[in-house]
Amino acid sequence: MEFQYNGIRIRPPNEKDAEKMMEFINSLVEEKADINQCKKVALDEEEKYLKDILKKIKENKLVYLIALDNDKVVGIVSIGLRTGKKTHKGGLGISVAKEYRGKGLGKKLMELIIELAKEKLKGLEMIELSVFKRNEAAKKLYKKFGFKKVATIKKGLKFEGKYFDEEIMALWL
Ligand SMILES: CC(C)(COP(=O)(O)OP(=O)(O)OC[C@H]1O[C@@H](n2cnc3c(N)ncnc32)[C@H](O)[C@@H]1OP(=O)(O)O)[C@@H](O)C(=O)NCCC(=O)NCCS
Repeated sequence: MEFQYNGIRIRPPNEKDAEKMMEFINSLVEEKADINQCKKVALDEEEKYLKDILKKIKENKLVYLIALDNDKVVGIVSIGLRTGKKTHKGGLGISVAKEYRGKGLGKKLMELIIELAKEKLKGLEMIELSVFKRNEAAKKLYKKFGFKKVATIKKGLKFEGKYFDEEIMALWL
C-alpha cells in the first residue's frame, strides 16, 4: 500500500523505519510542539515501540501511515482501537514536520487514515482525540473532517510546570 501527495510518499511503516521515525518525533519534541510526547526517545525505545505498532497493525487494531520526503519522515498519522468497553472507539494522532505544514499534507493524511480505519478496524464507530485548546491549526483541521468538541478538561495537560486546557473531540462514523 502506497500513496503519493506532491512528491511525498505515504505508506505504513516497516521494521526498518525506527531511526527515521525517531528523528521525526524528536524534532517535534525539540520544537515543543503541542503534542503529548514531551521527552526525546532513544533508538532502542523507538524500535520497541515500532515492534508493538507492527504487531497491532497486523492484528487490525491499528492503522498507521508515515509520510516520507525521499528518506526523511515528514508526517505520521494513526488511529488505534481502544480496549475493553471502548473497542468501538479509535484514538487519532497526527503530526507533520514544521517545514511541511500548511501545504495540505495534514489534510491528505487525515483523509487516508479515516478511510483506512473504516476499512481495517472492525467495529469502529467513533474516532476521538485530545488536543491543546490553544492548538488552532489542529482544531481547524479536525473540524474540517466533522470532528466536534465534546469536552474541555481544564488544566488537562501539564508541561514544564505549566498547565494547559485540553479539548476532547469526536467524530461519529
Ligand atoms: C496540525 C497539523 C497536523 C496540520 O497539518 P498541516 O499539514 O499543516 O495541515 P494542512 O496544510 O493540510 O491544513 C489543513 C487545514 O488545517 C488548518 N490549518 C493548518 N495550518 C493552520 C494554521 N497555521 N492556522 C490555522 N489553521 C491552520 C486549515 O483549516 C487548513 O485547511 P485550509 O488550508 O483548507 O484552510 C500540523 O500543524 C502539525 O503537525 N502541528 C504540530 C503537531 C500537532 O499539533 N499535532 C496535532 C496534535 S493534536
